[in-house]
Amino acid sequence: MRTAFEAAFGRAPDAVANAPGRVNLLGEHTDYNDGFVLPIAIPQRTEVAIGRAPDGGHRVRSRELDETVRFTLAEPPAAGFGRYVYGCLRVFADRFGGVPASLDIHVESEVPMNVGLSSSAALEVATLRALRRLTGAHFDDVELARLAQRAESEHAGVRCGIMDQMAASLAQPDRALFLDTRSLATRPVFLPRGSALLVLDSGLPRALAGSAYNERRRECEEACRALGVASLRVVARSRDVERLPEPLRRRARHVVSENERVLRAASGAGAEELGALMNASHASLRDDYEVSVPMLDRLVALLATHPRVHGARLTGAGFGGACIALCEAGATRRVAADVMCRYAAAGGQARLLVAEAAA
Ligand code: GLA
Repeated sequence: MRTAFEAAFGRAPDAVANAPGRVNLLGEHTDYNDGFVLPIAIPQRTEVAIGRAPDGGHRVRSRELDETVRFTLAEPPAAGFGRYVYGCLRVFADRFGGVPASLDIHVESEVPMNVGLSSSAALEVATLRALRRLTGAHFDDVELARLAQRAESEHAGVRCGIMDQMAASLAQPDRALFLDTRSLATRPVFLPRGSALLVLDSGLPRALAGSAYNERRRECEEACRALGVASLRVVARSRDVERLPEPLRRRARHVVSENERVLRAASGAGAEELGALMNASHASLRDDYEVSVPMLDRLVALLATHPRVHGARLTGAGFGGACIALCEAGATRRVAADVMCRYAAAGGQARLLVAEAAA
């Protein structure tokens, strides 16, 4: 990393930091409803090296994209990876009264992009960590996650919840992170003994994810207005939800039932039960929240019906991207090979992203 920075900019960096991508075990589309989520860090990380530069504004180089972007705080770069880094510099400057006028920044990432494993949150958190180290500013990892979320929503144009940034900032790869997105309280949740996670990329583009995401957020807000509540977090499964007009009824039902599933999973569910909760989550995302697509359902069904799998679901915002399965420990590579082969026979092209995490 240091060497790559030196190769790009001709001197050593002043600070280096990294952050992981995440996969969400359970709790989808609940974070912007003040609800509960259960992400876990994946082994792949994003690294950021940063150095003060003599002048000329900021330069950000991405190894993966083989691209260098230049900008100043007054002139944001075009949409793309530079925009996330720009957002971080802006929120940092707003909060701490400025950033050095010229910085050189080198980014390397193993986190797969555009599959729902939060490569953008990993980039934001790694950038803010590097800035914290560079400047000596004092703030904790929860505030760092909040700054990262602001960078994304205010400067990269994605009205996301806080799950991804909290996960990149606080999650570990060997235990899940139970997060209450209203209080931001967290606690570790270990995977059931003898189980391990498998993450596959469905190979399906997530073209609809952005527009549908915003539409679902609007529908949840509308459901809250109709129910007279501040957020769906406070709604219990009730006749009130069932009386909402469609599609609000099904949208609210997903959020309410998904919160129940996360609470159940976080209170000591064994592998069988956790698997069943994951299967139920997928059905709810498919039927009530309507953020799946038929080929993704196909891949999830192939995973869920494999004899060595306890349960499976889509993970992330939906419409494509990654799926997660809870498997018997030691079986993830076997399961991946079997399922990828059957998915290929059905015309799909899956990719193995994570095997044996948290075994
Ligand atoms: C994206 C968002 C998160 C969350 C998920 C859906 O990953 O960035 O905040 O809303 O979708 O659970």
